Amino acid sequence: MRDINIENYDLSVKIKEENDIVIARQMVKNMVRKMGFTLSDVTKISTAVSELARNIYRYAGEGYILLRGKQEKDGKNVGVEIVAYDRGPGIEDLDSALRDGYTTTRNSFGLGLPGVRRLMDSFSIESERGSGTIVIVSKKRRAF
Ligand SMILES: Nc1ncnc2c1ncn2[C@@H]1O[C@H](COP(=O)(O)OP(=O)(O)OP(=O)(O)O)[C@@H](O)[C@H]1O
Ligand SMILES: [Mg+2]
Repeated sequence: MRDINIENYDLSVKIKEENDIVIARQMVKNMVRKMGFTLSDVTKISTAVSELARNIYRYAGEGYILLRGKQEKDGKNVGVEIVAYDRGPGIEDLDSALRDGYTTTRNSFGLGLPGVRRLMDSFSIESERGSGTIVIVSKKRRAF
């Protein structure tokens, strides 16, 4: 699994308690709003972060939500990259986990990861048993 250096990001929120999910969602929401994302994209991005943070809390116990603006040479933000990173148990069956309706939790819908994939422009996931999970998503800022 790749190494993530939290110092390379503009925002890092540690997820450890349930309330950190709300904090991560709110902090990311404020940042992408300031970066000029449309209201609809702000909602999509913060919903995705909430799902990723909830997975960290539920399955790994702790981890990080990281964010950085993607910049052009002139310094203008053109998009955002968000990383959900944990050193938990890893996802046992990755192919299944990306399918709608797959869950290892009773009374859950299993829509988190496939939902995140649909809400964002790019989605990649790395997971290793016993080492953890890294989900990297991004979204371009639409011109308006
Ligand atoms: N960070 C993680 N570490 C370990 N396993 C994970 C992690 N994230 C997801 N999983 C596994 O992948 C499965 C699918 O995740 P997904 O978020 O799509 O659904 P869910 O969390 O089960 O339900 P929902 O998100 O709809 O409440 C989970 O049930 C869990 O087994
Ligand atoms: Mg989930």
